[in-house]
Amino acid sequence: MKDKVALITGGNSGIGRGIAKRFAAEGARVAIVGRNRERGKHVLGELEAAGVEAGFWSCELSSEDASATMVAEVADRFGGIDVVVNNAGVGGRRAGVEDDDPPGVRWQKLRGPNLDAPWFVSSHALPHLARRRGSIVCISSTATWHGNWGTYGIAKAGVEALVRSFAAEGARLGVRCNGVSPGWITTERDAEEPPSGGSGWFLPPSALGRMGTPAEIAAAVLFLASDEASFVTGQTLIVDGGLMILDYPSMKMLEKAGAGMMSGSGTGEPVDA
Ligand SMILES: NC(=O)c1ccc[n+]([C@@H]2O[C@H](COP(=O)([O-])OP(=O)(O)OC[C@H]3O[C@@H](n4cnc5c(N)ncnc54)[C@H](OP(=O)(O)O)[C@@H]3O)[C@@H](O)[C@H]2O)c1
Repeated sequence: MKDKVALITGGNSGIGRGIAKRFAAEGARVAIVGRNRERGKHVLGELEAAGVEAGFWSCELSSEDASATMVAEVADRFGGIDVVVNNAGVGGRRAGVEDDDPPGVRWQKLRGPNLDAPWFVSSHALPHLARRRGSIVCISSTATWHGNWGTYGIAKAGVEALVRSFAAEGARLGVRCNGVSPGWITTERDAEEPPSGGSGWFLPPSALGRMGTPAEIAAAVLFLASDEASFVTGQTLIVDGGLMILDYPSMKMLEKAGAGMMSGSGTGEPVDA
């Protein structure tokens, strides 16, 4: 990533902040994008204090015009773009979805930031990426597989389809596109709003008995964005501590065998059942 230009949406908070820091540590020049200027200024300060060339763009990514302008400004300021990480996104609570919202309103609130945004940013960045044989990484969610998460899961499933479409579209230009699908990840914003909705966990949030970290997502994003993944395109890597492979009804049995998951103390070491 040395001297490459990475545009990271949602880089002013949570997982995106972790991705920005990791790319910066690898020598990239980093453009972070979000709406909240205070958080943007804070993360920009962290990056600059580490001696990184970085910039913050405040942008409403569900607007095509605003996204196009932001992409053009980033390319202009850094002289091009090598990597786009479409990380910005919101779940129902942060998107302000109300129980009595009509279906269309509920859908709009989730679709804009989660699906329109990566579509607009990737589309407008594609010509710049094509000049550098660059790559795109999109952040989806294991909510894609959990029907109870409603329109958020629908939008994120769209993101995984977008990954495959862009991989096909970008291939002839030498541009790869992949995805990372996180399970439950703890961020600095959990203090404001606990991820389980404040009611505590009914069962542990992964097979490893814990939540993941932004750094663990950033490691997967870095791999897919880098030349180490030069023959990988159109794929979405699930990074969830084994959440999706769990067979919850059988957990009592695993617990008996010593897996320790029900207490949230599982280490991930093999179970000698
Ligand atoms: N944390 C998890 O457990 C988890 C699990 C699976 C997937 N994910 C996904 O991972 C990504 C990051 O989540 P996170 O947990 O780090 O959440 P977060 O801390 O709330 O960060 C979300 C980021 O997206 C930006 N954003 C949201 N809507 C935007 C819009 N319309 N225009 C511009 N920027 C916008 C936010 O910027 P502003 O605040 O400045 O608007 C913020 O930087 C999201 O796509 C999320 O769906 C998270």
